Amino acid sequence: MLNFLGMPIQASTHANDVDSLIVIVHWLMFVLFIGWGAFFLFVLFRFRKAANPTASYTGAKGHISKYLEIGIVVIEGVLLVFYAIPAWATRVRDFPDKTKAVGVRVVGEQFAWNVHYPGPDGKFGRTDIKLIAADNPLGLDRTDPDAKDDITAINQLTVPIDEPILVHLSSKDVIHSFGVYELRVKQDAVPGLEIPVWFIPNKAGTYEITCSQLCGLGHYRMRGFVNVKTKAEYEQFIADEEKALAK
Ligand code: CUA
Repeated sequence: MLNFLGMPIQASTHANDVDSLIVIVHWLMFVLFIGWGAFFLFVLFRFRKAANPTASYTGAKGHISKYLEIGIVVIEGVLLVFYAIPAWATRVRDFPDKTKAVGVRVVGEQFAWNVHYPGPDGKFGRTDIKLIAADNPLGLDRTDPDAKDDITAINQLTVPIDEPILVHLSSKDVIHSFGVYELRVKQDAVPGLEIPVWFIPNKAGTYEITCSQLCGLGHYRMRGFVNVKTKAEYEQFIADEEKALAK
């Protein structure tokens, strides 16, 4: 069914929950499509002109349609209450422990994704819009002690596999949307707000970050990449970046 729907690979632990819901909704829609289609054909035949020379002004008297409608509402209610709401609740309520998760800031701008790692001290350095420049798109204040070890990147978000990743999402200018289909993650990045979004990647690889809100003329080329690496590769990446910073 998943392949039939043309879904991207599942690269995060919650991807299957999202897909199950999509599959169930598609099955429901398939059944409704067949049901309504059959009903339509039945009506065309049953109430054809030849068999009904005079119009009936009373219409149908049966209760089947009412019970069917109630049944569909109940199924949709069950989907909402037992699948959709619990799945969404874990996304927005059960955040991973901040001390254990890999925290990273992602700041959208026209038309790129800026990535900000806190470095080994685990603290994000101060940023200031007055410091934003071509070579400092985040406006990071390197004189701040917390900022000394901070790592920045553009359009490349490198994360370790099998660990909770906590992305603090924001935007410098207009509303963008951080969409990574393989991770089943999509969240708007809104200027003035810092919105947390989390996931546990469980398949190494490179996945495209697609900006999913029309944000200007360059929207189509606003793409970044999530690089899911092994823990050793990730640690090597951080160490290499720290070495480059120290120079
Ligand atoms: Cu940013 Cu579309």
